Formats: sequence, C-alpha cells, structure tokens
Amino acid sequence: MVVDLEKRDVVTIEDLSNGEIEAVFSLADEMSQTMAEQSSVCQGKIMASLFFEPSTRTRLSFEAAMNRLGGRVISVMEIGQTSLAKGESIADMARVVGSYADIIVIRHPWEGAARVVADYADVPVINAGDGGHEHPTQTLCDLYTIKKERKTLEGLKIALWGDLKYGRTVHSLAYALARFGATMHFRPRRGLEMPEHVMRKLTTEYAGRLERYNAVKDVEKDGLFPLDAVYVTPSGPHQLANIPAVGIQMELKTDVDAIYVTRLQKERLEPAGEAGESERSYPVVDKKLLREKGFRETIVMHPLPRVDELAYEMDADPRSMYFKQAARGVPIRMALMSLLLGARKVELPESKGPSFAHHRDYPVYDRDTGVRCRNRNCVSRQGTEARYMKHKFHIVASEPLTLRCIYCEHEIHPRYIASSKWHQGIVEKKRYYSADSFMLARIRPENLIIFDSEAAAEAQGFKPGKRGKAP
Ligand code: CP
Repeated sequence: MVVDLEKRDVVTIEDLSNGEIEAVFSLADEMSQTMAEQSSVCQGKIMASLFFEPSTRTRLSFEAAMNRLGGRVISVMEIGQTSLAKGESIADMARVVGSYADIIVIRHPWEGAARVVADYADVPVINAGDGGHEHPTQTLCDLYTIKKERKTLEGLKIALWGDLKYGRTVHSLAYALARFGATMHFRPRRGLEMPEHVMRKLTTEYAGRLERYNAVKDVEKDGLFPLDAVYVTPSGPHQLANIPAVGIQMELKTDVDAIYVTRLQKERLEPAGEAGESERSYPVVDKKLLREKGFRETIVMHPLPRVDELAYEMDADPRSMYFKQAARGVPIRMALMSLLLGARKVELPESKGPSFAHHRDYPVYDRDTGVRCRNRNCVSRQGTEARYMKHKFHIVASEPLTLRCIYCEHEIHPRYIASSKWHQGIVEKKRYYSADSFMLARIRPENLIIFDSEAAAEAQGFKPGKRGKAP
C-alpha cells in the first residue's frame, strides 16, 4: 500500500492509523541513515513555528527538521509578540498564518487550540501540545523508541507513571498503545489519575478492560510497585479479571517492557488544592525501584523536561532511553512533515496495519441551548474565541447522557432533554424531561435538545413534562 498523507492535519494521535504511523517510522529510518541527502526534500517550503508555551525539544526539533529538509522557518514564541495579545482570535491568526506558510506547528496552553487552527488554516497543522489534551508527535517519538528497543509495538506491557491527569503525552500515548495491543499499568500520583474521558475511550472505543486496585498503602509498605488502575486490551487475555487485587501484584512481579515517567505539570494544577500534596508525595523512579524483579529489563522513558521524579543516577543506566527519545524527534518530525507536505510518499506492505484512522461516528450536538464545556482551559471557553465559536459536542453515551467536547474532549452529563419533533414550534407542546428518563431513547439524535438545568429549559419556553408521557 502507498501511504500518502498530503494536506492532512495531525491534531491528535487518532489522526494517524497504525499503518500511517509505521510509514512515518519507515521514512524516519531512511532519513536518519541518509541525513545529508535530505536537504532539498522541502526546498521552497515554509514552516510556521507558533509556540505559545515554553519548549526546548519540540520547537527546536521541528525547526531543525525543517532546516534539514531544506525548508525555512518563521516563528513566534510568545503570545505577547503577536496580535493575539491585542484580542485577535485564534481563527483569524490561523487564516493569516496559513497564507504565509506551507505548514503550521502550534503549541498553545488552551486545550483544543490546535483543532481550531486546523479548522481555519488552509495548510497542514501539527499539534505540538495543546494544554493538558494531547501531544501526538511526542507519541511518535515514544513509539519509535519502544519499537527500536523492543523490536515490536505489539502486545507490550507498559507502566505510565506520575501526572496522568494533566500530562498530555500520556493521553496520546495511551490511545496509541491501546491500538497496538498493549497492557497498561497506571501509577498516578494520587489525585492526578487518568481523566474520565481518556478512560472512557480506552474502555469503550478501544474495547479495553479496566481493573482497579486500591490497596496502595499495603503495596507501598512491601516496597512493591503501587498502582491505582490497570488497563488490559482484549488482545491480551488476562488472569486479573477474577482476583484483581492479588492479580495485579503478581502482574508487577513479571516483566514490564517500559516505564514511562512524567513530571508534575505544575503549570496546569487547579489554583486551589492540587499543588501542595502533589509536590510532597510525587512518585520517584530511581535505581532502587529499578532493582525490583519486574523491572530488570525495563526501559525507562520520559518525554522530558524532568524535575525530581526521575533520579539523575539513572542517566548512566543502559535502560534509560529519554535522551534517545528526544534525539529521535528530528528524523521523526522530518518524516512527518515531508509526508504532510506531499514531498514524500511511503510504500508499505499491507501487513503493517490498516490505512484508516480510528474515528467513531458519534452524533454531533451543536444547538445553542446553553450547554457549555466545563473545562476552564478549553478553547471554547475563552473570551476571544466565544465571538465566533459554537459549542460542539459528540454524544458518546446515553446512560448517563454524556457529551464530549469536540475541542478538549472533556465530558459533561447534562440533566434535561426535549425533542424538536414533539413541539414543532408550538409553545404548548414544549416539554422537557429528565435525561435519565426513558424519553431519551425515544428521541432521534437530530431532534435532541439538551439543557444543563431546568432554568435553562424554562428560559427557552419549555415546561416540565409528565414522566412517562411524551407529547
Ligand atoms: N517533550 C516535550 O514536549 O518537551 P518540550 O516541552 O521541551 O518541547
């Protein structure tokens, strides 16, 4: 099969199929072995490098990659250097920058910002990290490293460690690992567990199975590896189902292929409450931990930068991979950009995986009935963007009714529903019902009206309906 990614965006790791990821790796292998021959692949192309949050690795490796491909780079590194500081919207900026450059790479503190840029720019857009949402090209570097060191991506056992709530790299990585049939062990700092929307995707869209283990104190006392949750893919039938507590301990005494460490994302913590305890009790990976039986062959990964969660004594250990992960960012990003710019295509055997990306066809809800994303960091909640953006959700579940914001993917559970078909504009027929009543099943998605509160329903002229009696 020929893998052609021309004009595509990479906003989430789900924008690339397994086969396309393999194609990026194959081209990265070729380019890293023939670096000197790549200097005209993107000649005449311009990359816009928009980094509105600090970065060392991602920005410099993207810029190095475009320079190595013979293209040029235009860049801004602070919102204060741009007209966003004057109140310009991200959509307007995207349209304009898309007319100056052939490809846009953007890092932004708001979750969903890269999606907006991709919606409005006429050129390929790469998400270089949007708040605590995703960081898909870091995942490409991570998977590439796992593949190089373990010789496969299939059926591995990976421990994800640290701040799983705000660590965007672990969100993208978890989706990708699930697709390659991994078993994941989550070891979060208490209070910084994987977000609900990530767990839902893993357990429904990727058909994974979740086992929770809560006896953290007992395990810590024994010096074992404590964890809060285990995710098992259907491709790895498991003995944990019947006796989870004992099973998970046993599981950790057997070989873990990689431990993926993340720092506390201090800049994203809730202003009240999350900071103090998180810093005091953050789990540390050091030589002592790596002496445990289950970790003897384990490779140690970290997207970097590190703070205190990964001991410097690990740097000389041959199992440590984090500087290799960072170095591999250049060939990976060279390969990805040359594919998105249509400068290269890749021929792959069909056996390398399906060529379609992972997307569920969920119904979209975008009526203006006052339903809002509750994530304060979502792009849809920001004043500059509210002027033109519609709040938009995927309806991902009905019991309970669950809407997923299409920008940041946080979920909400609105409480009231109605049908546009029942009232057809006639005021007397405007009735609303509880979202957990059987009325929900009677309403087709295209007719569904959703409210956050009774007050919102009544403000739009709806009156409470009798339970069990549809108009
Ligand atoms: N891994 C990563 O995103 O590093 P930077 O923040 O330095 O780009």
